[in-house]
Formats: sequence, structure tokens, C-alpha cells
Amino acid sequence: MESVTALIDKGALLHNIEVIQKKVGDAKIIAVIKANGYGHGAIEVAKTLQDRVVGFAVARIGEAIELRKDGIENPIFLLEGVYSDDEVLLLEKYNLYTAVHDLNQLRSIERAPIKEPIHVWLQVDIGMHRLGSDDPRVISEIKSRLEHCDHVIKPIGLLSHLSVADTDGEEDYNAEEISNFFKFAKDMTGDLCLTNSAAIFRWKNAHTPWVRPGIVMYGISPFEDVSAQDLDLIPVMTLKSKIIAIHNLKKGAKVGYGAYYVAPQDTTLGIVACGYGDGYPRTAPNGTPVYVNGRIARTAGHVCMDMLFVDLGVNSGDKIGDEVILWGRDVPVETVAKLCNTIPYELVCHVMPRVNFVYK
Ligand SMILES: Cc1ncc(COP(=O)(O)O)c(C=O)c1O
Repeated sequence: MESVTALIDKGALLHNIEVIQKKVGDAKIIAVIKANGYGHGAIEVAKTLQDRVVGFAVARIGEAIELRKDGIENPIFLLEGVYSDDEVLLLEKYNLYTAVHDLNQLRSIERAPIKEPIHVWLQVDIGMHRLGSDDPRVISEIKSRLEHCDHVIKPIGLLSHLSVADTDGEEDYNAEEISNFFKFAKDMTGDLCLTNSAAIFRWKNAHTPWVRPGIVMYGISPFEDVSAQDLDLIPVMTLKSKIIAIHNLKKGAKVGYGAYYVAPQDTTLGIVACGYGDGYPRTAPNGTPVYVNGRIARTAGHVCMDMLFVDLGVNSGDKIGDEVILWGRDVPVETVAKLCNTIPYELVCHVMPRVNFVYK
């Protein structure tokens, strides 16, 4: 018996991409599949979407090379760019598109002994202070040197990332970031790419001819106050396991490490074969919802490495072997993440390799 399964619904992925494409009209989609496709399996996600999107984006060159080796032929973008001259040779070898966010990356491209020019996106900082410069003089120098570099295909693109497109109360700052991007864009003749998931659904004025959705492709809402269902998105991942033991508990019985849960009444306790060693968060508090036999039940006690506890209620009728859904359509991963004081991105990214991935 496989203890934990991550069921990946390719139909849901295709549905979500269709919803996204409708939202952005003719814009070209670069599907963000870094961190193993947000934990869903980058190769499978890429194979499912290769005819529906223009390209894919990853963070590390190793991720891009794996996709090429598995036969993905679409443009692949490196969002963080390269970190050595040797990596520029790999850009050429694997025909990868790269961001350039600083003078070091520029110099690597200028001096690399490559024969074929490469596709480059100038990455600027519009307010997040992560990658790229916000200094117009530095940006202008990088831009001009890229435009005069034989190793670069012209015209170059412009890329940036929004930091608060999903954040209530930061609407003014978001507007400032969008305006900063379009100020830099005025001097460009190449492609523009700004739009992330939140901007696709909430900020039409941040729509650029190229868009970079991540989380919404996986059927997860980027917003605290809007569900995936409200956005017409379908969760792609269902994480599920099984009950492997059942105990009758008396009121006051202490459950698990640290006796973190104390039975409030006589009840039935289910032991489920999924723990933080599978990627289910240790921070899940008592009362986190799971779905079992057509109803919501609640976790009880600290999550262990390989197991967790569920209070099934008195005379529940559940049996050993019954399926327990930890997140998916019936238990939004957004709900679990919120209870754990984190974001759904982290939960799906953390599903561990020992989990059995099934693609349907
Ligand atoms: C540079 C960049 N672009 C696009 C994305 C996609 O963001 P989202 O998943 O919120 O759409 C990310 C996500 O981390 C990113 O870092």
C-alpha cells in the first residue's frame, strides 16, 4: 500500500490555463514551473502544458537543463539568470533565455566564448528590492551594453516582479510598482513581462504582452479573501493518505508528543499515515480540517514525522484503510496554510520525494 499519494489532475491544469488565457487575452504565457513545478512535478506539468503556453520559467539552470533533457522544446526562461561564465555556455548549449539583473551577469555574457547569441531579459527593481537595480543610470548602462553585445539577440526584453499585487492595504505601493515598470518600459523596444498570478486576476493595468503565472495554474488562489473556486480555478494537487489504526479514547485522554491534544469527550482517534516527513506541516494546529468519508474531521495532536492524528468523533464508523484527504478540492490547501501561518506555495513545494505521485 502506498501510504501517501499526491494525485495530480492534468485536466485541472488545462482548465486553469484556459481560465488564465481568457483573462489575459492574446498575451503570451510563460508558465512558472520552478521548484519542481511548485511541488507538482515540473516535467509532467511542462509536458501537459507545452502546446498551451509559449514558454516556461524556472529559477535555476539545473531545472532548465532537466526540462530540455526530457524533451521540452519551448522557450525556457531563467528568472535569476546565471551565476558564472560557465553557465553562459549552458545557455547557448540548451538554448535558454536568461534574465540579467546586474553587472556581474552582464560581464559573464560579454566575455563568454559563445558562438550563438542568446535571448536576454533585463531585470529591473520596481519596488521589491530583490533582483535588479532601481537606479536609472545602472539600468541604462546594463541596457546599452546588452544592446551592443554580439552575444545577445536584439531587441532585449524587460522583466520585473510585483511584490504586493496580492496584498490588501498595499494598493498604492502596487500602483507605484506598476508605474515604475512602465516608466522603464518607455525606453524599450523588446518584449515586456511583469504580470504574476495576482496581477492577472486583479490588476489589468499590470498586464503586459508576456505574463508569468505560477500559483493560479495549480488551482490555488493568491488572495487571502478570494477562494480558488471564486476565480474559477480547480486545485491540481490532492494530497491523501489512509487510516492505519483506530483507538477508542476516553474523555481527557492525551494524544501524541507533548500531549498537545486532550480529548474533550469520549471519541474515536484515527492514525493517518502522513506526517511532516511527507511534507504535511508540523505547524498544523489542533483542529486543522481533513476530509474523510464525505465529511470534514479535525487533526488532533502534533503532526509526527510519518503520521498524524484525527479526532473522528464518537462511533464514527470509519475503518482502517479508509482514505483521508489532507488537501485538495474538499480541503483547500489555502485553508491549511492559513492555519499554519504560512502560504499555500510553501505547502505544495514541500511535498517530499517519498510521496507517490500519480498523474491523471
Ligand atoms: C520572478 C517571478 N515571476 C513569477 C512568479 C510567479 O508568481 P505567482 O506564483 O505568484 O504567480 C514568481 C514566483 O515566485 C517569481 O519569483
